[in-house]
Amino acid sequence: MSTALLEAHGVSHAFDYTLFTDVDFVLHERESAAVVGRSGSGKSTLLHIFSTFIKPDSGSVKLFGKEIYAQSEREIEAIRRYEIGIIFQFHYLFKGMKALENIEIATLLAKEHVDESILEKLQIAHLMEHKTSELSGGEQQRVSIARVLSKKPRIIFADEPTGNLDKETAKLVMDVLGDYIQSHNAALLLVTHDDEMASRCQQRYRLADKKLQPETIEA
Ligand SMILES: Nc1ncnc2c1ncn2[C@@H]1O[C@H](COP(=O)(O)OP(=O)(O)O)[C@@H](O)[C@H]1O
Ligand SMILES: [Mg+2]
Repeated sequence: MSTALLEAHGVSHAFDYTLFTDVDFVLHERESAAVVGRSGSGKSTLLHIFSTFIKPDSGSVKLFGKEIYAQSEREIEAIRRYEIGIIFQFHYLFKGMKALENIEIATLLAKEHVDESILEKLQIAHLMEHKTSELSGGEQQRVSIARVLSKKPRIIFADEPTGNLDKETAKLVMDVLGDYIQSHNAALLLVTHDDEMASRCQQRYRLADKKLQPETIEA
């Protein structure tokens, strides 16, 4: 059995109203999972809970075997820096900087090197000397994904990462993420309202009626 990178039990959370109760979820090395659900169902909140950013009202969340919300701020900071990568629908690149410089900041912080093969797979290697502001939206998103992968995270959390990409580029990104988790013994948790993107993950769950339920993927 491969190692569980993320393990959650009995997770419940409410803001103004209860979003979900008793969520159980496990993600092993080399696995990809998608959480689908309607807008407002709590997908992003669940992703933030699993990725160290929101302590749930109740339940246990373990990353790499450690109860995450029992760790010190310093340990949580180290996990964010070295162990996990987060991809958002809207990237946070520095506009005045070159594409390469944006990636170098992340690799420097994570004590890694820019991985040329990731740039090539994402088809952005030729864009590295361009400033962020000179790139198209889809190119910028791929630079931001390269920035996350160059950190060499063990878990990638992706919140609607392909929401602003055309179909072909979205497929390319999903292929690159899939290759990455296989070759780096990592895992992917994708949150999306797009069933087609979700169907490219090995496991699929639906967040609805305050529950996270596994879904069977139709062939
Ligand atoms: N930090 C917050 N404080 C208060 N309410 C929030 C916060 N984050 C999200 N919510 C509310 O929780 C609900 C679920 O939000 P979200 O997790 O973003 O859903 P989804 O990603 O599925 O669209 C929404 O009603 C949203 O307004
Ligand atoms: Mg969301």
